[in-house]
This record gives sequence, structure tokens and C-alpha cells, in this order.
Amino acid sequence: MKKALITGSSGLVGSEVCHDLHRRGFEVHGIDNNQRAIFFGSSTDTRWNQRQLESELKNFQHHELDVRDRGGVVALVAEVLPDVIVHAAAQPSHDKAASIPFDDFDTNAVGTLNLLEADRRSCPGSPFIHMAANKVYGDRPNTIRLKELETRWEYDDPSFQHGISEDVSIDQTTHSLFGASKVASDVLVQEYGRYFQMPTCCLRGGCITGPNHSGAELHGFLSYLVKCNLEGREYKIFGYKGKQVRDNIHSKDVASFAYAFYSNPRVAEVYNLGGGKENSCSILEAFAMTAELTGKRQQYRYVDEPRVGDHIVYYTDLRKMRSHYPEWEVTKSLSQIMGEIVDAWRMRLPNS
Ligand SMILES: NC(=O)c1ccc[n+]([C@@H]2O[C@H](COP(=O)([O-])OP(=O)(O)OC[C@H]3O[C@@H](n4cnc5c(N)ncnc54)[C@H](O)[C@@H]3O)[C@@H](O)[C@H]2O)c1
Repeated sequence: MKKALITGSSGLVGSEVCHDLHRRGFEVHGIDNNQRAIFFGSSTDTRWNQRQLESELKNFQHHELDVRDRGGVVALVAEVLPDVIVHAAAQPSHDKAASIPFDDFDTNAVGTLNLLEADRRSCPGSPFIHMAANKVYGDRPNTIRLKELETRWEYDDPSFQHGISEDVSIDQTTHSLFGASKVASDVLVQEYGRYFQMPTCCLRGGCITGPNHSGAELHGFLSYLVKCNLEGREYKIFGYKGKQVRDNIHSKDVASFAYAFYSNPRVAEVYNLGGGKENSCSILEAFAMTAELTGKRQQYRYVDEPRVGDHIVYYTDLRKMRSHYPEWEVTKSLSQIMGEIVDAWRMRLPNS
């Protein structure tokens, strides 16, 4: 039986990958220490997801391990000898990083180095799939000329009609400390690929979401926005008139890409990963879509101060990914994603 090692296995992406690979016949080993609850508070506790994996997946084993524990990581990889590693453990918030710079860098950059080196020592031929982030581009996308439409900003430059490609520079822009720790891990993953000829890839995600997201104000905007709507709680918009645009991808489509890469690995690749223009929305548009589904008007407050380094418009150019992996596709539309998130919160919030 093939073995998979998934870090951040109780989180949104990690748990989806665990389900996906288990369904495909893998023995799945998950690493998580519920650090999300420490980063964002008890409302984002991920133990429920861990318990679900343990009860639903016959060949799943949870390892309570911190990816910063170098000795522990090296020993576990040597013991499991996985056929594939999907690294999804992280401090994932752009805004949170400034208040916890050491924890952010140690988790995102050093944790990734621990895993890469463990992989190189024990199973260098096993594909290493790293959940990177589009924040590696910093705020460079904000230098693209924009036009203002009624409910959203839009690129006003035909060279970006398909969105942001992997050719955009990651240098000399404001990244946030999160973006900087993600750049460090991204470059390390590429380097282990190029230098040691290991099959590695970085998936530079934007807004990944789905019903299993434990959305918080500082991470997981769509999930958090729906939660606020259902609870009648105020959602804060930070700048850009609420017309800032994001593309959204369901975690299932991320998991299926991880499998596509495992099945046909390449060396030192980077891909931008998102739902593409068709799955994009502004915050104002997300309010309207949510209200349509729940019948409740969104309560919100406008704060006339954008978050540092925040993208005004970001949607993903998927052409490189599609050309390397033509069998892979975005299967979940934005309205399907929204519907699933609403249903999931209704189940988890008793009075909604
Ligand atoms: N969700 C998104 O919108 C998005 C977008 C771009 C990139 N990403 C990247 O995808 C990856 C997964 O994101 P997610 O949304 O699933 O986040 P998540 O917070 O839901 O999951 C991360 C998991 O990692 C665990 N974890 C954190 N630090 C750990 C540590 N030191 N040791 C062990 N486990 C630890 C957490 O407890 C959590 O369960 C991250 O690298 C993130 O930066 C996510």
C-alpha cells in the first residue's frame, strides 16, 4: 500500500488531501498539533476535523507533532517512508504574522526546511507538494492599472486578462511578514528541487475554501463572511470600497491537483493555484451572494484603511497548470462553493 504524509492534516487543505488520498487507496499519516487554535483562538479549533479523520478513514494515523520539532520530523519521515508528502501545515494569516514574527517564520520557513531535509535524507524520490501562497508576489499586482466597476475593481491592462501568472516578480514589493516567510519556504522548495533534482512543487494559492474551513477574521474570508451573516455579526471591510476581488477554489480541487502532481511529478515547479476569473468575487458581491442563499442581509462596517500589502484585484492565471496537467480542472463553481459553506455553517451553528 502506498503511503502519504500530510502535514496540517486537521486543517482545511490537509484534511481534504487526507480524504482524497485515502479514497485513492493510500495509507495516510497526518501531522498536526492544533496550532490553529493557538494562532486564532478556540473558535478555530481543528480537533473536530482530526476526530472525523480518525473515525472515518480506516488507514489514517494521526501524529501529534509540531513541524518545528526538527528531530521529531526527521524521525517520523524515516519511519513512515512516504511515497508522497503534502505540506499544508502553516501559520496561514497575512495579518497575524506581524504580531508573532518568530512563530510565523519558524513554522512557515523553518518547518518547511525540516520537512524538505527529512524528505531528502529518507525518500528523495517521493514528490514533495508544498502549499505556498500568492503573497509571494507581495503587493506587486497592485501596480497593474485598474478600472472601477459598479461592484468590483478590474484589471485595465490586456496583458492580465487571464489573471496573475507565475512570471510576475516576487522581488522588491511589500509582502507582509507572512509573505516573507512564504517566500523563504517557496524558494527552499524550489531549491531542493533544482539542487537535488527532487520532484517538488509550490502551489501558490490565493483563497482556498470549502465547508471544512474553520474561518476566522484573520484567515478564510469567505467562510468567515458567511459565518458573520448567519450569526448576524458585523463583518469589517478594510478599504478599497469593498470592491477588492479574489478568486476562490474549493479545497477538493486543490486535493485533486496534489494527486495529479504525484501521478506525474516534475522537478522544482511553481504553479499559481486558484479558482480563476470565473470563480472570482468582490466582498460586495460575496455579501449579495450570501444574502441570496441565507435570506439575511449582511451586517458590516467599513474601515477606510486597507490591510498592509493587501491585493486590490487578484485572480489566478491557470494556463500553466492546465497545460502541464490537462486532465485537472476546477470542478466547483463559486455558487456551489458558497452553497456548501452556508450548509456547513448551518450544521455547526445551532441557532443559525
Ligand atoms: N486557505 C487559504 O485560503 C490558503 C490560501 C493560500 C495558501 N494557503 C496555504 O495552504 C496551507 C494550508 O492552509 P489551510 O487553509 O488549510 O490552513 P489551516 O489553518 O486550516 O490548516 C493548517 C493546519 O496546520 C496546523 N499547524 C499549524 N502550525 C503547525 C505546526 N507548527 N505543526 C503542526 N501543525 C501545525 C494547524 O493546526 C492547522 O490544522 C498553508 O500553507 C497556507 O498558507 C491557504
